[in-house]
Amino acid sequence: MRTLADLPNLKSKTVIVRCDLNVPLDGSKITDDGRVIASLPTLKYLIGEGAKVIVISHLGRPAGEVVAKYSLGPVAGRLGELLGTDVSFASDTVGSNAKSAVANLQDGQVLVLENLRFNPGETAKDSAERSAFASEIAAFGDFFVSDGFGVVHRKQASVYELAGLLPSAAGLLIEAELKVLVRLTKNPERPYVVVLGGSKVSDKLGVIDHLLPHVNQLLVGGGMVFTFLAALGYKVGSSLLEVDQIERVKGYLKRAEELGIEVVLPTDIVVASKFGADAEVKVTGSDLIEGTPFGASGLGLDIGPASALHFADVIRNAKTVFWNGPMGVFEIDQFANGTKQVALALTEVDGLSVVGGGDSAAAVRILGFSDEQFSHISTGGGASLEYLEGKEMPGLEVLK
Ligand code: 3PG
Repeated sequence: MRTLADLPNLKSKTVIVRCDLNVPLDGSKITDDGRVIASLPTLKYLIGEGAKVIVISHLGRPAGEVVAKYSLGPVAGRLGELLGTDVSFASDTVGSNAKSAVANLQDGQVLVLENLRFNPGETAKDSAERSAFASEIAAFGDFFVSDGFGVVHRKQASVYELAGLLPSAAGLLIEAELKVLVRLTKNPERPYVVVLGGSKVSDKLGVIDHLLPHVNQLLVGGGMVFTFLAALGYKVGSSLLEVDQIERVKGYLKRAEELGIEVVLPTDIVVASKFGADAEVKVTGSDLIEGTPFGASGLGLDIGPASALHFADVIRNAKTVFWNGPMGVFEIDQFANGTKQVALALTEVDGLSVVGGGDSAAAVRILGFSDEQFSHISTGGGASLEYLEGKEMPGLEVLK
């Protein structure tokens, strides 16, 4: 893959950098700026080389229309604070505002263009439409640097077509992310433990399928675990359940048994009377979810304390751990214990500990952990999962 070292003398050249600045926002307040911080090394490198830097990114899924709450304005402000320099912001992506801002850009300066996804061409199904939009962006620059790791699994104009229109290379974030993911896929040090959580089992079945033969233990928690418990024949009350996936999950459990891979499911569950911080709560065996006073309306919202301790033990004894997806509704204190224990155990791993993805990355930071306590916190949720699934990544293929 081409890297920054392959781009010739960048002084006074205009370099377009595709970052993934898709950060969680509360109004205009950024609640986790991890992705902005992760984009700094490449931007600092380019500034140091005396390039004129144009940053492009998406934010949210505005579906080709201008949606004010998805403006990159606040992110440009944060980027300026972190870089310690003025960062200008164009209120459109390829319109008159962007054109004049690009024309005024000086060596070593940074300009952020408005959200790529305000333009239908960015995510268009039709490749000609994507190419047309990519050409408008390409007209602004001499070089293209792809550094939005979180979006390399998308075949979108700024990720795929644009890279074919200018001399292009991967940025430092993509290089760093791939170094870690390669360690997870090529001869990982053992025991190798994968921890999966989050709400949707259907999002994770691909990765389970691909990783099953390679891991020593697979730990499952979060909302997705109830489909596993249902596959064992347990009643799960009103907990999250993907009925149409039960048969597939049964198949994976059978395959794991044949391969001698241990799939570790929680033996106890925190069941709530309703969703909310003021819910009544009972801890019960995972086969007895409907046996609480809440009956069939009981909602499993976290793995139980005994399971959290067991998961933590398995994790601490591993040499390689990949974790994607919270164990429960960690945003509410009484359902946060499972996620906290798993995060804490990862910080104690004597080996490689990787937190994969947007939600889990936000979870560990919200729970008070710092990035330095883990070997790596990936900026890519879907992207890291698809990489581990062995899927082709358009945004990486095009840089080869
Ligand atoms: C992410 O948050 O995983 C990336 O920014 C990609 O966003 P998308 O799923 O909307 O393409």
